[in-house]
Amino acid sequence: MSSSQATAIAHPNIAFIKYWGNRDSLLRLPANGSISMNLGGLETRTTIEFSPEFSIDTLVINLQPVYGAGLERVVSFLDRVRGMAGQTWRAHVSSNNNFPTGAGIASSAAAFAALSLAASHAIGLNLDEAGLSRLARTGSGSACRSVPGGFVEWKTGSGDADSYAVRIAPPQHWALVDHVAIVRAVNKPVGSTEGHALAGTSPLQAARVADTLRRIEICRDAILNRDFSALTRIIEQDSNLMHAVMMTSQPALFYWEPASIALMKSIPVWRQEGLNAAYTLDAGPNVHIISPAQDSAAVQERLNAFPGVKSVLVAPVGGPARLASGAE
Ligand code: PMV
Repeated sequence: MSSSQATAIAHPNIAFIKYWGNRDSLLRLPANGSISMNLGGLETRTTIEFSPEFSIDTLVINLQPVYGAGLERVVSFLDRVRGMAGQTWRAHVSSNNNFPTGAGIASSAAAFAALSLAASHAIGLNLDEAGLSRLARTGSGSACRSVPGGFVEWKTGSGDADSYAVRIAPPQHWALVDHVAIVRAVNKPVGSTEGHALAGTSPLQAARVADTLRRIEICRDAILNRDFSALTRIIEQDSNLMHAVMMTSQPALFYWEPASIALMKSIPVWRQEGLNAAYTLDAGPNVHIISPAQDSAAVQERLNAFPGVKSVLVAPVGGPARLASGAE
């Protein structure tokens, strides 16, 4: 065999119960469990080729060669994959997103979920869903949640072996839609890897972590019962809790823009007017507005007219990471 290649596709996810802080930053073992929904229509497609002819690993994202820290992160991930397979071949990785990189849409989640599947397949590792999710977690914590489809829970676990994501419900269980209101599309100043390392410097982090099980159970039940009011209450509180930790860490992290706050204040008013909509924000200023599919057109209309909203991405619930039928 002269070389071996595979292509995989994965969706980003939006966390309903957030992961913020690691107990082991090398293995990316989280301080707390989390829950998310995969974002259909938004995807990363990654092709990898391992070959004895290559002397170094190379990486191209959205047709641009990547060097420095971005490349190093992928090389150490590939070292892990090579170690698992007992292989030494270097690789060429080419990845394309159909959505903007950075600023609150978890591009690293889709990227490492797709890379885990493509790389493990190309190198001949036959990983089950839990094994793939564990591998993806070591590239980017939230990537473990982009491996299963639909609504997903990442169990904290006691160590590397049992810290992975499992499906709570399939995509067709509940027709929710995420509307990503883009208020700033440039890359965020402090990435989540650095942010996780600061979480413990906030005196609020311990209280947030201690309360996790309560939030996880309310959120899981809200999903299983398709209870949008309960989901709204818990995801808004959880997002605000994480941002309270961010804002009180040292140094402080302020991800919000004025338009983010304006949206967070308007959405409860929209609810009083009869619209089902709930907000949540990751490590960026863009606001994710979750609503049942029947409210989506009205939400889009309001967002398109909202001052400071530059564009809106609309995503239904997405499926699992999967291999593409042919290579690119
Ligand atoms: O997987 P990371 O290291 O990009 O961290 C993701 C952190 C948040 O998006 C803010 C929360 C989450 O659970 O996705």
